[in-house]
Amino acid sequence: MSRVAVIGAGPSGTAQLRAFQSAANKGADIPEVVCFEKQADWGGLWNYTWRTGLDEFGEPVHGSMYRYLWSNGPKECLEFADYSFEEHFGKPIGSYPPRAVLWDYIKGRVEKADVRKWVRFNTPVRMVTFDEATKKFTVTAHDRIRDVMYDEEFDNVIVASGHFSTPNVPYFEGVESFGGRVMHSHDFRDALEFKDRDVLIVGRSYSAEDIGSQCWKYGAKSVTTTYRSKPMGFNWPERFEERPLLTKFTGKTAHFRDGSTKDVDVLILCTGYLHHFPFLPDSLRLITGNRMWSDGLYKGVVSTKNPQLFFIGMQDQFYTFNMFDAQAWYVRDIILGRIKLPGEAELKAEFDKWRAREETLEDAEQMIWFQGDYVQELIDATDYPSFDIQATNKTFMEWEHHKGENIMGFRDNAYRSLMTGTMSPKHHTKWLEAMDDSMEVYLKN
Ligand SMILES: Cc1cc2nc3c(=O)[nH]c(=O)nc-3n(C[C@H](O)[C@H](O)[C@H](O)COP(=O)(O)OP(=O)(O)OC[C@H]3O[C@@H](n4cnc5c(N)ncnc54)[C@H](O)[C@@H]3O)c2cc1C
Ligand SMILES: NC(=O)c1ccc[n+]([C@@H]2O[C@H](COP(=O)([O-])OP(=O)(O)OC[C@H]3O[C@@H](n4cnc5c(N)ncnc54)[C@H](OP(=O)(O)O)[C@@H]3O)[C@@H](O)[C@H]2O)c1
Repeated sequence: MSRVAVIGAGPSGTAQLRAFQSAANKGADIPEVVCFEKQADWGGLWNYTWRTGLDEFGEPVHGSMYRYLWSNGPKECLEFADYSFEEHFGKPIGSYPPRAVLWDYIKGRVEKADVRKWVRFNTPVRMVTFDEATKKFTVTAHDRIRDVMYDEEFDNVIVASGHFSTPNVPYFEGVESFGGRVMHSHDFRDALEFKDRDVLIVGRSYSAEDIGSQCWKYGAKSVTTTYRSKPMGFNWPERFEERPLLTKFTGKTAHFRDGSTKDVDVLILCTGYLHHFPFLPDSLRLITGNRMWSDGLYKGVVSTKNPQLFFIGMQDQFYTFNMFDAQAWYVRDIILGRIKLPGEAELKAEFDKWRAREETLEDAEQMIWFQGDYVQELIDATDYPSFDIQATNKTFMEWEHHKGENIMGFRDNAYRSLMTGTMSPKHHTKWLEAMDDSMEVYLKN
């Protein structure tokens, strides 16, 4: 029997497990699937940890999520096509669930599929090599509970280890003698720490927007975000401002590109993440930035270095869970021999076509249509339940519009499920007033 290794049991890795299980359910002969997960439970980033730095085994902490994190897009845009929110919760729920609610949902599908037995928890993968003669991979894994390292052979490897865990940390002159707290968003856990503080944030993307909003909501004295390329441009409330990029510190005084200054207590670098695969040698390693059309991947999933090696979820993301599903079903069908990939020249020409289009993308709206087209192409090729991508794109557009209207209130809106057609209820409490993000409180009513 052939063997498949899946590295990581986050939303991407569990999508892969569900994809294989769903084929087996329909009578297909599937390979043996072994999923290696470095954490003690599945769900990836959605499995919250209070830890920062190194974990109890000395491994880099994977988690980048924080307390009070709510979905930053409508849940209707990420819903699994084979497992609706309504099925999981037994009733329609609001459109921007907090982290714990989404984690519960992710787990629900794979618990129902009964694939936990395929996962080896507390087991980081240390190295993957490929033997050109046998065409097999050797995966070296470390069982942290027994503290034993071992090798196993596989026919295919699917990397689903995420790419929002290894911080990108730029240097700013004077930061070493700043005297306040300095951290990357990867280590941000609780906005209450910054109550009554003047918070400075570097970055203009989702972490900057959301961590800034959180700090403001939970009582920071002021929030200043500083941008390299262009401002986020939302209609921020008082005590919240955007300035051109930080240039240096002199003591607690931050200097900005426009010559202005501000005294601050805290610096949070929301400067994004690096694709980091310490377990892959040069001959297999994916090298790409965080972009809509990743380098090094045909069809967004097949390694250009080795066609037996796959990556799920490596793109910058508007679409998330259901895109990972589309990718996982596609990869499954390549492995099962149901999809025959064209030759290298055709794959390369296709890659170039997507890349050329990616390079014309100017705003979020265009990126959403781009990613929607990609998801559609994959879904059309497999038996993943089809869903209305155009309508999903339009829900994303509404979301963008709601953010433009009210950045501190967009999460008070509700949207229609593209899977069940049910209109979601408006949440019982306005996001700005909802201080408790527990699942119990969210699901009340
Ligand atoms: C702060 C933050 C907030 C976000 N909020 C949203 C949101 O609101 N909505 C949304 O749709 N998306 C959000 N995302 C995007 C997020 O990337 C996806 O939702 C999703 O978690 C990606 O799933 P993944 O499985 O690809 O990666 P991850 O969730 O990162 O999971 C990867 C898994 O691989 C494991 N792993 C890593 N290395 C190894 C190894 N060497 N060996 C074994 N296992 C390993 C990890 O432990 C982890 O469990 C957010 C991301 C961040 C950082
Ligand atoms: N649920 C939520 O509310 C939530 C919260 C946080 C994050 N997320 C998710 O987390 C993922 C990662 O988001 P992210 O914002 O951390 O990363 P990101 O989207 O990759 O953005 C990185 C930001 O860092 C800036 N940057 C990088 N290097 C810089 C430098 N040297 N100097 C100044 N600025 C620099 C970039 O600026 P330029 O734009 O100018 O290049 C960009 O604004 C996304 O998928 C997001 O959806 C979700």
